[in-house]
Amino acid sequence: MLKPIITVISAVAISAALYQNQQETKPTITPIKLQENKNFGQAALHYKTYCGGCHGENLNTFIDRKWKYGNTRADIFKAIKNGYPDGGMPSFAAAFKDHEIYNLADYILDRLKNADKYAVSTKPKSNVFKTEKLTIRLDTIYAGGQSPWAIAFLPDGDLLVTYKEASLKRISKNKIATEISGLPEILSEGQGGLMDILLHPEFEKNQTLYLSYNKFKKVDGKTVSTTAIMMAKLSGNQLTEQKDIFVAEPYQSTRRHYGARMIFANDGYLYFSVGERGDHEKNPQSLDNNSLGKIHRINADGSIPKDNPFLSDKKVVPSTYSYGHRNPQGLAVNPKNGQIISHEHGPRGGDELNLILPKKNYGWPVISYGINYNGTILTNRTAKEGMEQPLHYWVPSIAPSGLAFANGNIYKGWDNNVMIGSLKYSYLNRCELVNNKVVKEELLFQNIGRVREVRTSPDGYLYMTVENPGIIYKLVPVN
Ligand code: HEC
Repeated sequence: MLKPIITVISAVAISAALYQNQQETKPTITPIKLQENKNFGQAALHYKTYCGGCHGENLNTFIDRKWKYGNTRADIFKAIKNGYPDGGMPSFAAAFKDHEIYNLADYILDRLKNADKYAVSTKPKSNVFKTEKLTIRLDTIYAGGQSPWAIAFLPDGDLLVTYKEASLKRISKNKIATEISGLPEILSEGQGGLMDILLHPEFEKNQTLYLSYNKFKKVDGKTVSTTAIMMAKLSGNQLTEQKDIFVAEPYQSTRRHYGARMIFANDGYLYFSVGERGDHEKNPQSLDNNSLGKIHRINADGSIPKDNPFLSDKKVVPSTYSYGHRNPQGLAVNPKNGQIISHEHGPRGGDELNLILPKKNYGWPVISYGINYNGTILTNRTAKEGMEQPLHYWVPSIAPSGLAFANGNIYKGWDNNVMIGSLKYSYLNRCELVNNKVVKEELLFQNIGRVREVRTSPDGYLYMTVENPGIIYKLVPVN
């Protein structure tokens, strides 16, 4: 079990040794002039190891960027060295010497200048994919917007789609999108915005739905935000009777790790995830009035179920169901046995698939298979008594989002396989689960785009969304 992390650590040790050699042969370092056709070997490796996971191996997030902090060499140096922790950009002061940071800045500027040269179109050319067991056609249901975060299937066949950039659209069978009005005030910044959507199990009778979103307020002139869940009714193309039924505390100044996935499990309760909001020291292990880094369980009207696992401890937020989570962005019920599974983003490496059970501690950050973004060690422990082991983990991270079980009547050979989107590597991950162990993985639709949402429609078809540009696909098996 320890092996993957040892490999990662030794890679870090080797690159640390490389830096030292570099030091000896290059006594005077700062600042290096940007040169044409420079060999960026080490900077390229650093970029790939430390930056590509968030910014894209092909500098995806820098191409055509509206730079927030400027794009001069000095601006980029500053961003890498000090980071913008509230925005989710870590500081790399501990990982790199100044000259290495300048090299990275030069590497980024050089590659951006030559963006066309590098931007080979790797997008799939056909919408029909041969996979190991099935041939799948990806039908485009709708293309538009930036980040389609979640889908709900209305009884009349229309879709409701949330977009992180604070928009909710109804998409009809003939691909007409209509904006739904009546959203709460939403802060669309960093990883936060309008996130999940879920219909009440008796939606047809009561038109009730749930939205998870980034709620905000001003404290001492600073905007702080949190994961909130709003219940509302859909009447026509308008939300009415809006009411926040859950607001996570405490609010944070960061803009990341909101969690925000929701499901109804077979017991009829509403389960949802709240991420640790980027403060792993304080939140995920705290059971003292802290709803962050937890999975919660409430009644459909927002009240607290009488058998919630922590009710005897008055300090614990009563909706708490499990804790020690980092950023769970996938929740699903196994249709065969009703078990709840979830996945969560690890730091650098250590993304997990977990079986969610009441009162359990999933260990973040005391145990983890990942390391910090800047290469420093977070914890040496991958296991501890009283803390749950994942069903499966990924090193390096795949950045999982969206989670659904495949229906074997429609997808022959995929029965009850777990489908997981990868934001980072732009594919859909098919996992065969046997006795709650992942025994096989297949990467589907490689380079399709950052897969954000995967969900099964009431008639059993898988749908998924990709970001930037936003596209909703339906997976149709063909012979
Ligand atoms: C954990 C994810 C993550 C990693 C790892 C990461 N970044 Fe970032 N970076 C971000 C985010 C998120 C922002 C935007 C911050 C904000 O909006 O305040 C950002 C911002 C930046 C900016 C400023 C962009 C602007 O708009 O002005 C630069 C430059 C940058 N990153 C370079 C790097 C480099 C180089 C590395 C690797 C050494 C790196 N980043 C690693 C997430 C990351």
